[in-house]
Amino acid sequence: MADRGKGGKPKPEKKVTRYTYDDIKEPRTPETGHTSLLPADEQVVTLSMDNGWSKAIKLGKLQEGDRRPVVVDMDPAADPVLFWAGKRNRREVPVLPLQRNEIVSESRIAQIIERARRAAEEKSGAARQGHLFADLEKTLRESDKSKRVEFYTHEEGWKNKLICGDSLHVMESLLHYENLRGKVQMIYFDPPYGIKYDSNFQQRVDSIKNDEKDTADDILTIKAFRDTWSLGVHSYLSYLNERLYLARELLTEQGSIFVQISDENLHVARCLLDEVFGRRNFVAVIPFRKKTMPLGTTLIEQMADFILWYARDVERITFNKLYLPQNVEGEFHHCWYELPDRTRHRMTPEQLCNHSLLPDGARVYRLKSLEPSGPMDSGMFDYKFEGKLYPHPKNGYGTTLKGMDRLKALRRFQPEGNRLTFILYADESSFARLTTPWNDTVGADDKQFVVQTNSRVVERCMLMTTNPGDLVLDPTCGSGTTAFVAERWGRRWVTCDTSRVAINVARKRLLSSTFTHYRLAGSRLSEGLIYRRVHRTTLGSLANDEEPQELVLINEPEPDKSTLRVVGPFEVASLGRYSLEDWKGYVVRESGIGEAAKLENYIEVICRLYRKDAAMQGATGLVHAVAESEKQKIAISVGPLSGRVTGKQINDAVQDALASGILEVHVLGWAFEANVGEVKSQLEKRGTVKVELMMIRPDTLAEGLKATNPEMLFSPLALPDIEVKVSKNGKTEKQVHVTLKGVALFDRKRRTTEYKAADSGYISAWYLDEDYDGDCFVDCQMFYDFKKTPNIKAALRVEVEPEEFTLKLDSQPFPVGVYKRIAVKVVDVYGNESTVVHELK
Ligand SMILES: C[S@@+](CC[C@H](N)C(=O)[O-])C[C@H]1O[C@@H](n2cnc3c(N)ncnc32)[C@H](O)[C@@H]1O
Repeated sequence: MADRGKGGKPKPEKKVTRYTYDDIKEPRTPETGHTSLLPADEQVVTLSMDNGWSKAIKLGKLQEGDRRPVVVDMDPAADPVLFWAGKRNRREVPVLPLQRNEIVSESRIAQIIERARRAAEEKSGAARQGHLFADLEKTLRESDKSKRVEFYTHEEGWKNKLICGDSLHVMESLLHYENLRGKVQMIYFDPPYGIKYDSNFQQRVDSIKNDEKDTADDILTIKAFRDTWSLGVHSYLSYLNERLYLARELLTEQGSIFVQISDENLHVARCLLDEVFGRRNFVAVIPFRKKTMPLGTTLIEQMADFILWYARDVERITFNKLYLPQNVEGEFHHCWYELPDRTRHRMTPEQLCNHSLLPDGARVYRLKSLEPSGPMDSGMFDYKFEGKLYPHPKNGYGTTLKGMDRLKALRRFQPEGNRLTFILYADESSFARLTTPWNDTVGADDKQFVVQTNSRVVERCMLMTTNPGDLVLDPTCGSGTTAFVAERWGRRWVTCDTSRVAINVARKRLLSSTFTHYRLAGSRLSEGLIYRRVHRTTLGSLANDEEPQELVLINEPEPDKSTLRVVGPFEVASLGRYSLEDWKGYVVRESGIGEAAKLENYIEVICRLYRKDAAMQGATGLVHAVAESEKQKIAISVGPLSGRVTGKQINDAVQDALASGILEVHVLGWAFEANVGEVKSQLEKRGTVKVELMMIRPDTLAEGLKATNPEMLFSPLALPDIEVKVSKNGKTEKQVHVTLKGVALFDRKRRTTEYKAADSGYISAWYLDEDYDGDCFVDCQMFYDFKKTPNIKAALRVEVEPEEFTLKLDSQPFPVGVYKRIAVKVVDVYGNESTVVHELK
């Protein structure tokens, strides 16, 4: 029965909505497999990282007539800079385009709501899958299919981005391909703190506890950490430096960057930021509390981490004042109270900390100085109060003689020794400007990631420096706190992480969230929200008999209680283009004790690990190496380190092999696109060529450098096991129904791949594209365990079956689509993804 409000009338059903940004245009990102169509002009750019220091060393000062751009106003002769082993003034960075793998057009929570409503209506548990945002999904799918090859020359509506890849390459790609130079309003950068190797990443999507004995981790994470740590703090500083220079290029002139760091490296991080952004652009160092209880492990326990805030240009910075409700209980300035009989008293220490001990009707107040911060000529007079003459303070009084008389008439003075002070009641200014430190930043968040930042911290930074519709970037996504906060406040976001675990934790977090819907001031988010306004009495307003000061509370927009909001559409992307150049990514090779780690070529390492006899091929083409079996030659092609093997790569590798008369092709990859199984069978159907798709085991580069047996490192691609049933619904409409049966899982301890049943606890999530177009996976249905059941009933007045929040293995039925093809993507608990495509006959 429908819930009833006051007067017995049924309460209107809440709408479910989300924020989208179709009015903001961006260049179209290519789908996976299409990046090879991009012109192969620039593949490596030089990142310059020198604000003058290299000249300072060489010459002491810049020579006259030197036209080299000094990007921030820094005098290398006067400003000290930090040096470390390996500090460079430029660096070659490969530029890889982003490739869109997936579009998230739905929200899990929205689907659950929709279904529960239908179930309530139809009183039958078998309601059809509701696509709340079906129209949008249709436009996303169809968005100019004909223009798909015109990537980056054709514009489309903005979509937020969750990117799997190294922040260095992602940021370079955002500059180079995505046209975001000078477009990011705020960056929140929470890098590894540079202290302990294992403190910063998470092994499993479903647990924040790492197994200390299990050191095998996903390759990009290992690579990120090894690169970061090989020379200790020296490598760490290079890591930060490169990314800070790119961050500066991405920021708008009004933008800000916040760098989160612990006290161990705070001082060096600040030196770096001084160098990159310029000392004059330093805004603040904000200590924020990170724990409630000291662990007693150090001499004096540090309870805070720190945020370093720098502006791109402090003269032009966007800054919104943030006011928080003021709690004056225990605040030592508020140590006075006035009773209804107008008598005034000082609180006892007990009363100060516990206002319930104050007499009835007590009005709490504080005493404020009457002296302005700078000299005020009109306040240079002595003032008589209750028979005593009070000489003016050094800067004078903060108001005129007339103003002082008005304050006296209002009973606003209280002598304090030889000076006169002004009385301000706590109830007249219940909001106070945000200052540092932040002591209220522990607790609250539902922790899903081992080093998750409290969302309140990111929220404050974002609200102070951005407006609705602005773009924010987090190059260290983790559990996606910045994206989550941006969704909450209607900001656009881009975030990236090397860890597939992090990417999957963030995706689940976003899909499971509900947000308060805020009313817009105009028709678009960029026109702002409607904010609560409050008044604050000040010395000036009382003395001049003016209206109290109006404060706009940008952290309290007006909620639309008739509507609930879910996450907006976003795309999941990775980096990649499969030309040989792009893969000259390097890996760290184990080295002797005391020796610095050595670098070797990635493709060569993988090919040699696969076949010791592999003969490396030239710099062009997709056959990277050739090996010989007893019968014939085998062409070997290696997938990119930061992307997936696409159908096109397999096809092109086969064509290259055939051109050299080779009839067997082995394609090795860390991850494979959905349609690769299909491409393989089509190629083999022609009868001449044999194709093997080999999965490189996630920990190959960690262990493999020592291991010798290739069988331990490579295994044939194993796809998720699904069952698809097509049945007739009534007379005409065909209904499809998918069941997930199992997934191939790499056992990290025993180093074998085994099929695990879908209900054996190894599946973190699975996603279904009901009508796969062969290019981009669209998440139509999604399944995972919420762990904590959200209370939607309170917000929506709808009862949800508890099993909706658990990992279901059966899809909702759905009709056969245009492409007559479905795809299922499975994510295991270690964040590895595998996808299978199924043709609907
Ligand atoms: C301290 S955590 C960020 C946590 C995040 N603030 C949150 O609230 O969940 C740092 C993250 O940076 C990622 N990371 C480390 N090196 C990276 C790199 N080179 N590129 C992208 N991400 C990187 C790690 O995988 C980790 O998830």
